[in-house]
Amino acid sequence: MATYRHDVLIIGSGAAGLTTALRLPDECQVALLSKGELTSASTYYAQGGVAAVLDQQDSLESHVADTHVAGAGLCRDEAVRFTVENGPDAIRWLIDLGVDFTRFEGGDDGTLPYHLTREGGHSHRRIIHAADATGKAISSTLIGQVKQKQNVTLFEHRVAVDLILQEHHGQRRCCGAYIHNIRTGETDVVLARSVVLATGGASKVYLYTSNPDVATGDGIAMAWRAGCRVANMEFMQFHPTCLYHPKAKSFLITEAIRGEGGHLLLPNGERFMHRFDERGELAPRDVVARAIDHEMKRLGADCLYLDISHKPADFIIEHFPTVYAKCLQLGLDITRDPIPVVPAAHYTCGGVVINEHGETDVPGLYAIGETSFTGLHGANRMASNSLLECFVYGKAAADNIARHLAELPEPRDDAEWDESQVTDSDEDVVISHNWDELRRFMWDYVGIVRTEKRLERALHRAELLKKEIGEYYSNYHISNDLLELRNLVVIAELIIRSAMSRKESRGLHFMRDFPDSVDNPKDTVLTPGTF
Ligand code: FAD
Ligand code: SIN
Repeated sequence: MATYRHDVLIIGSGAAGLTTALRLPDECQVALLSKGELTSASTYYAQGGVAAVLDQQDSLESHVADTHVAGAGLCRDEAVRFTVENGPDAIRWLIDLGVDFTRFEGGDDGTLPYHLTREGGHSHRRIIHAADATGKAISSTLIGQVKQKQNVTLFEHRVAVDLILQEHHGQRRCCGAYIHNIRTGETDVVLARSVVLATGGASKVYLYTSNPDVATGDGIAMAWRAGCRVANMEFMQFHPTCLYHPKAKSFLITEAIRGEGGHLLLPNGERFMHRFDERGELAPRDVVARAIDHEMKRLGADCLYLDISHKPADFIIEHFPTVYAKCLQLGLDITRDPIPVVPAAHYTCGGVVINEHGETDVPGLYAIGETSFTGLHGANRMASNSLLECFVYGKAAADNIARHLAELPEPRDDAEWDESQVTDSDEDVVISHNWDELRRFMWDYVGIVRTEKRLERALHRAELLKKEIGEYYSNYHISNDLLELRNLVVIAELIIRSAMSRKESRGLHFMRDFPDSVDNPKDTVLTPGTF
């Protein structure tokens, strides 16, 4: 076991982690970790774009108002205003770093010369994008920049296991983390004066998801174990349109296709969204996903369809080259045929409670991006507000860390990873079986439509699995699969308990037993040690 020392440890190489690293001053020695390659993050797969007020016809008030409407009465106004007001600067920062957003030809009215698309819930065109591969353009640029920073050391294929807490001057602080090297199997200690959780969301807790494999809620589970409050975990967002094809794992069909005029169709070719919402295909995501789920169940259909083939072929290929190429590879020409789609788990609206500086309840520990709960998204995140939140809060956290770093205590060298009591398992089937079981019951019982009975069933299973996985973790050497499973079962329990405590339907949380919304909704805040 080795011990490493840095000023700041950033866990995660998505938009949130990379932004924080790039915004920290050069004097600050930073370690930045990724579970796989640096690109193994949801950020890399983002398609639609980043929402910000960039057009003179648009206004900050309008972006604020749309976010509140999508969030169904639960957005925190301070967080919404902070994010929206800092949006244009965040985009300018990305452009200055070299992100190659799609340009707009013509128009010299003082606005930025970039094409803006539309997505559900937005009353204006305000999504800046790089065709339909915005995440790839952003990741590549930020990774390119971070590689040039002398003060940032990059560690790939490293998984943070748990946070290290120490007493300093009577205060329990986060001073680092145990880090497992996936390639060598060794577990090291990384000490730091500030630690940033930028580990992304937890959508892998569901059987079907748009997310990459790394999205197992590790940061939320680690923060919970360390004593941080976690809020609004019942609001798991299902994206309405993921590709339905036996050979397509987790492939998203961007909402921008609907923004540019795509129609959702039943198997008989009929449009149906206007029956559910007057905004039709551009209603917020919770409404569209529920409508699709309802129609699939009513008709016993395996999927529904998204059709953009009425637009000119060159328009489709220019705006959606990634979706076009992926579908064509699978034998589907989207310039002629409708795309088979199903909803899938996409985004974790809840997370670790933070303040406007990204600080959690544990001194020295920050959480940024999808791992965190800022109050921006309320009961349903509006499309393309997520990346924006990463850039805005990544900067806020970096500024706060830089302001206070000199005053923070040096971590002591007494943390040790003890493997003396564990052996190699000859029963890894337990891990794979439990992975499948967990994700399946979450999909079946805690999905788009919930009931009290289904939630009780799910909680019972989650508690059994938690015990079994806990025993396994105590007795055998760790692996990435085991660590992720241990975190996923914590996430499952947090989602189920949050869902059980919300006795109403709101945004992404739809309960058949309580179909109405209450008048004075509150956030669901769970505190460690209370169950
Ligand atoms: P991520 O980008 O997921 O990064 C998490 C990082 O943490 C990864 O590097 C991972 O390896 C690392 N990590 C996780 N656990 C550990 C651990 N234990 N130890 C070490 N490292 C760890 N949002 C938008 O605003 N616009 C869009 O167009 C858009 N499109 C999307 C399309 C898809 C297919 C998906 C999946 C999401 C999309 N989203 C979009 C959502 C958005 O991409 C994510 O919310 C955002 O990228 C999250 O960024 P992040 O930095 O918080 O996490
Ligand atoms: C999409 O392109 O549909 C995803 C946008 C988002 O998740 O914000």
